[in-house]
Amino acid sequence: MRNPAPCALLLLLVALALTQYCAGSHWLQTFNIMILEYGIWEPRFIQVGYVDSIQFQGFDSKGGTARMQPRAAWMGQEPPEYWEKETEEALLLSERDRQLLRIMVDYYGHWKNDYHTLQEVFGCNVANDGRFLRGHYRLAYYGYDYIILNENLSSWTAEGKAVKNLLNSWEAEAERWRTYLQEDCMERLLRCLDLGKETLLRSEAPQTLVTHRVRPEGNVTLRCWALGFYPADITLIWQRDGNNHTQDMELPDTRPAGDGTFQKWAAVVVPSGEELRYTCHVHHEGLPEPLTLKWEPPAPRIPIMEILIGLVLGTLVVGTVVIFLVWKK
Ligand SMILES: *[C@@H]1O[C@H](CO)[C@@H](O)[C@H](O)[C@H]1NC(C)=O
Ligand SMILES: *[C@@H]1O[C@H](CO)[C@@H](O)[C@H](O)[C@H]1NC(C)=O
Ligand SMILES: *[C@@H]1O[C@H](CO)[C@@H](O)[C@H](O)[C@H]1NC(C)=O
Repeated sequence: MRNPAPCALLLLLVALALTQYCAGSHWLQTFNIMILEYGIWEPRFIQVGYVDSIQFQGFDSKGGTARMQPRAAWMGQEPPEYWEKETEEALLLSERDRQLLRIMVDYYGHWKNDYHTLQEVFGCNVANDGRFLRGHYRLAYYGYDYIILNENLSSWTAEGKAVKNLLNSWEAEAERWRTYLQEDCMERLLRCLDLGKETLLRSEAPQTLVTHRVRPEGNVTLRCWALGFYPADITLIWQRDGNNHTQDMELPDTRPAGDGTFQKWAAVVVPSGEELRYTCHVHHEGLPEPLTLKWEPPAPRIPIMEILIGLVLGTLVVGTVVIFLVWKK
């Protein structure tokens, strides 16, 4: 791609939305991005579909034969009719998004900008027992003009003049989205969970360890690591003397390891010598029970070399004395 920015935007959007699911439930989410580049008449439309953190299908209008494609091995079980239908739906959405994008660009007179993007994210969340929990829909022009379907799925919140202009004609649209999220989206999600159960419903417990690093100021960073776990939901907490020590805890986002599992760490800075008052607590569905970890100071070094040298020297001395005595006799 000539201009990498829109793809980076899409990735950011995906990353933000993927942090919001909670233990035991599952999300199906669709991310659309429409990109209009200056001097290129045909906008590009990209759609990616995720179940939780796993991409399962994708569409890219670049190239003449744009089709919805499987992105996870288990989607290969879907018949050709499925891909026909998904391709058709992606094309319909892209036509609608293209019109919306042109309305926005016209409204603001943005025609001379290098590129324009319209982003759309929507999805549904199912409970462990198959119940619909919630759905969401959001459309953003550049990221500052946006329209969001309210949590009750029956009205909109909008920010930005162009999008507010659109609102008048969007009342019926809310109902359309509600139906989609509660029915079609749920049906698709349950089907995905069934087809991909070996991937999506597995749980892999984290491997854990605590590292210790002396800082230039003299105190110590204790870092609690969780590696190789799935799904991405995890809780890492540091405690001091058994009390939560979250206020000074550094806790970056959970990140994909690249092999389908996740990684996370939590760090605290502690006074040197007080390391053993801190414990790290790890909660993950793959663990039979939560783990409690401590930094383990290295075992005192056994001076093997000194002992060996002592033994050798001792033997030499004794040997010399024996030889001397024998010689003297
Ligand atoms: C839905 O939620 C919005 C915002 O929270 C509220 O203004 C609206 O009245 C609600 N609609 C219904 C039907 O409850
Ligand atoms: C400590 O933090 C965990 C996770 O946020 C929370 O569930 C727990 O209730 C907290 N415990 C106390 C004593 O505040
Ligand atoms: C670590 O040491 C520095 C310098 O002595 C101090 O300013 C900082 O507050 C210490 N941090 C903690 C958490 O003890």
